[in-house]
Amino acid sequence: MEVTISVIIALVLASSGAAFGADAAALWAQHCASCHGKDGTGTTMMGKKLGLKDYTKDQGFSDAEATKVIKNGKGKMKGYKDKLSDADVKALVAYVRSLKK
Ligand code: HEC
Repeated sequence: MEVTISVIIALVLASSGAAFGADAAALWAQHCASCHGKDGTGTTMMGKKLGLKDYTKDQGFSDAEATKVIKNGKGKMKGYKDKLSDADVKALVAYVRSLKK
């Protein structure tokens, strides 16, 4: 019995641990893809209107700049610091980097 309980506790801990790590792809699809496009090319209706750069080709910003923009916004992009945790923002910066071909 005690073994069963500790196995269950271990499983619960393991799955909550997995959920804690930000799922950057889901965050991107939810918050960012409407402008930047699912693939980061910026070829959405909004993206074209805003003249967004193609992040599969052109990433002329540092990690620190990207972090700042995601938190505080830039131009027509609003900041996400109320919606996203620091870990989420960090995961998104890494995600944006991974879009570059
Ligand atoms: C309302 C449309 C919109 C949404 C939604 C949006 N962005 Fe942006 N994003 C922009 C605009 C506009 C810029 C500024 C482009 C420029 O000035 O070159 C920008 C710039 C950026 C930059 C580049 C910063 C730089 O210094 O050039 C990054 C990185 C970025 N966005 C990531 C994200 C992430 C991550 C999300 C989701 C959390 C997101 N964006 C959501 C419109 C949007």
